[in-house]
Amino acid sequence: MARIVLMSGSLRHHSVNGAALATIRSILDRRDSEFHTSEIRVADLPHYNEDLDVGPGPAAVSAARELLIASDAAIVSTPSYNGAMTGTLKNALDWLSRPWKASSLSGKPVALLTASPGTYGGADAQPDTRRVLERCGAVLIEHPRVAIGSADFLVGREGTITEPLVVAELESLVDATIAAIARGRRRVPVAV
Ligand SMILES: Cc1cc2nc3c(=O)[nH]c(=O)nc-3n(C[C@H](O)[C@H](O)[C@H](O)COP(=O)(O)O)c2cc1C
Repeated sequence: MARIVLMSGSLRHHSVNGAALATIRSILDRRDSEFHTSEIRVADLPHYNEDLDVGPGPAAVSAARELLIASDAAIVSTPSYNGAMTGTLKNALDWLSRPWKASSLSGKPVALLTASPGTYGGADAQPDTRRVLERCGAVLIEHPRVAIGSADFLVGREGTITEPLVVAELESLVDATIAAIARGRRRVPVAV
């Protein structure tokens, strides 16, 4: 059983990034092998406060850390907010990067995508997001950039994306994630 954590940078009910992750979840559900997907909801995490980050920390934080540590990989989808990941996603990554030298993301294979109603699919958020994920100890899964543009036109009634070219891109990203898991990238303690 491979455990994959999905994390969206958007809090919106009709989020296109949420729709992209719902599509990935349905792709994984259709695969022969056994995959278990779960979600870290960034909205559940309080604003980062080092005063609260003692011991196990707030319940939602320790639950998110444990989920990520127990997972084999994560897939992160975020909108671009003014050329970077959303503040709520950055907040979640800050929580997950702690305690110091014990980041829940250390050695974790992470696939990244962005989605936006704009033409460029939030691609301008990717360099910063990659840099921060790597700073947190994550191992970015190698794959051609996935940035879903005009995404609001691609979401169907089921809340997933059905446009064949985009679904194929997401299938390919899922394949890369599964390959990364199969390569047995193990957690390596990294000082962050
Ligand atoms: C504060 C803010 C900044 C934004 N900046 C960008 C941007 O730089 N590039 C872009 O493509 N879209 C930008 N958008 C539009 C978002 O891509 C759009 O709201 C998108 O639907 C958010 O993703 P979601 O549907 O997953 O919530 C911005 C939206 C907000 C609220």
